[in-house]
Amino acid sequence: MPLISGTQVAEKVLAECHRDIAALKARGVTPGLAVVLVGDDPASRAYVRSKDKKCRDLGLHSVKLELPATTSQAELLEVVAKLNADPAIHGILVQSPPPKQIDEAAIVRAIDPAKDVDGFHPVNVAKLALEDPTGFVPCTPLGCQRLLIEAGIETKGAHAVVIGRSMIVGKPMAMLLMAKGPGGDATVTVAHSRTRDLAAITRQADIIIAAIGRPYFVKAEHVKEGAVVIDVGINRVEAPDTEKGYKLVGDVAFDEVAPKCRAITPVPGGVGPMTIAMLMANTVKACKQSLQ
Ligand code: GUN
Repeated sequence: MPLISGTQVAEKVLAECHRDIAALKARGVTPGLAVVLVGDDPASRAYVRSKDKKCRDLGLHSVKLELPATTSQAELLEVVAKLNADPAIHGILVQSPPPKQIDEAAIVRAIDPAKDVDGFHPVNVAKLALEDPTGFVPCTPLGCQRLLIEAGIETKGAHAVVIGRSMIVGKPMAMLLMAKGPGGDATVTVAHSRTRDLAAITRQADIIIAAIGRPYFVKAEHVKEGAVVIDVGINRVEAPDTEKGYKLVGDVAFDEVAPKCRAITPVPGGVGPMTIAMLMANTVKACKQSLQ
């Protein structure tokens, strides 16, 4: 059961970014990313901090905007408009989920699609469906695809089952896997919370992408011998014997599933580091495209 190390592949992606950033700086341009956080959700804060730190480590221009939980829709739209107009900013990310008073879809639509490094804007969703390489693909599924490619997992003709249908992971993951080319050409099934007899479907999978957001959801009975399993889940579960009182676990019951697998990603150290690496890669891409 070989582990697919997201930490190692992320290092490789970041080294590529580092090279590209040096070349851009030599041309007098520094890629810039703005991350906007509304409110004080602790998990979101932790994500935003790690994104900001990774940017700085790489020599990207990083702007972290932390707005109060009471921020109005109009105020947030104004922040987005300023970032759209700022030539030092090539990528904009508004951390999800925002507080209740915010209409998230309207905020996403207000972001300049050329700066939408999350790949959530309808223009970028359409470009993914159209297989237009100038679009931005959401970082987590893009990272999962890169993991499969780097681990030498053949997707062409394989049956991939995506569990989860979110706009952030499940839907774009399915589109990437069915697109033409490396990391694609798969036969894709999308399962979700309403799927009948899930195990009968996932047991047919050569590749399982688990993105349902429920701890230990995928069990040995869901997985056929020799399958490849990519675990997107990051779930907090209570762990009284730890310092923090909780630990992060995946959507896959790793201990019982791993022995059946040809390869599997761990949590932590699997998909997580890839998401941030692909955000950096998308920001570099946005910067390069802005120069064309
Ligand atoms: N919250 C959890 N994942 C993400 C992500 O990839 N992008 C944004 N903007 N918010 C998130």
